[in-house]
Amino acid sequence: MDRIRIVGGQELTGTIPISGAKNAALPLMIAALLTDETLTLENVPHLADVERLIRILGNHGVDYSVNGKRDHQNGATSYARTLNFTARDIVDTTAPYDLVSKMRASFWVIGPLVARMGEAKVSLPGGCAIGTRPVDLFIDGLQALGADIDVDNGYVIAKARKGLRGNRYVFPKVSVGATHVLMMAATLARGETVLENAACEPEVANLAECLNAMGAKISGAGTPTITIEGVDGLSGASVRVIPDRIETGTYAMAVAMTGGDVLLEGARPDLLESALDVIVQTGAEIIPTNEGIRVRRNGAGIAPVDVTTAPFPGFPTDLQAQFMGLMTMARGKSRITETIFENRFMHVQELARLGAHITLSGQTAIVEGVSKLKGAPVMATDLRASVSLVIAGLAAEGETTVNRVYHLDRGFERLEEKLSGCGAVIERISG
Ligand code: EPZ
Repeated sequence: MDRIRIVGGQELTGTIPISGAKNAALPLMIAALLTDETLTLENVPHLADVERLIRILGNHGVDYSVNGKRDHQNGATSYARTLNFTARDIVDTTAPYDLVSKMRASFWVIGPLVARMGEAKVSLPGGCAIGTRPVDLFIDGLQALGADIDVDNGYVIAKARKGLRGNRYVFPKVSVGATHVLMMAATLARGETVLENAACEPEVANLAECLNAMGAKISGAGTPTITIEGVDGLSGASVRVIPDRIETGTYAMAVAMTGGDVLLEGARPDLLESALDVIVQTGAEIIPTNEGIRVRRNGAGIAPVDVTTAPFPGFPTDLQAQFMGLMTMARGKSRITETIFENRFMHVQELARLGAHITLSGQTAIVEGVSKLKGAPVMATDLRASVSLVIAGLAAEGETTVNRVYHLDRGFERLEEKLSGCGAVIERISG
């Protein structure tokens, strides 16, 4: 199993190109199931989760091809790919356990499959490292659109032989995935659907932009009320994946922790204002430029800041672990409260191995900043937890080895290369 070895203590200086967002690319790829024409996606990151979803979609009959390996933008070369997906014939409406259990987002195929084919049988995704993550909202919402749902032998079976019908559905709780699924399903329903208390995440707006380019009639995506006028069919389209706001925030926090001056090339400040505000409060400078976002911190220490995670536009849960990494070296005490997932503090124990002082009280972590961390072997437990250990390792004295790196490969493209390009001493050790 690969490991990452870091020798900490270097400031980060230079340019880091920001990749396309994993959490936007995945639902956009799933949207290809809604049409028999080709959906072209630009700026797709090269990540393990993307490769896995390609295989899952292939099982339903989706063909894909890659247009060139490199993408030239503003004179710089990124490794983002343009992928074409064509679901001419859906050959299988079942998504089996062995595929869905490996990646929760693959459950989302249920929406397009039932909308286009009138049926879908999708394995329950089960729990995962960060919490139980139920699917009740997907079931309630699809029922509101007229689907008959059975849960049998670990599968959710959705049927709508005569097609789905538009309806009003108020989400009892904000869910990104359930918003994606109901929005996709409603594009092909008869009549109007109004989704209230919908997720406002930029990835939802990116999916709506894609669906509209395919001929859907969606308004309000990115706000809590989304209106979808059903259409008879969707066509092909070409859409660009938005830059990854979580990758952006992660590297911004790395610079805030190590000190230095880095341009996050291609990053969009409007996608993560609340996180950038918090980073500024810690004492780093954030400068939006035409090329992206410049992050800078010199000499001065890190100020402690309290945060509470919340749905967009609040502070993202996907940056909570990284922020905790940063706070371990703040000049004082901070409180970090997690409100989205019940078990997303697995990085606490591992950060403690580097010398961090953190105590847990329910859903709140109290972090007592220390003046220095010391390198140690640590274990990655999930995607964002792993990268918090990388950040802390970059700032720690001496050598840190992060084990179980496959978690990082799910969501961070060329992490070692991007960081070593800015002066970090970081390498992957294979085997
Ligand atoms: C998306 O997950 C992201 N995944 C997650 O990123 C992210 O942490 C999360 O949104 C919140 O922002 C992708 O986009 C692929 P939710 P999702 O449904 O859609 C509860 C990462 O590291 N809930 O918004 O699965 C749920 O348990 C990942 O990239 C129900 O109760 O999250 C959670 O407490 C991890 N019933 C809350 O809602 C349901 O039917 C929000 O989850 C569905 C969800």
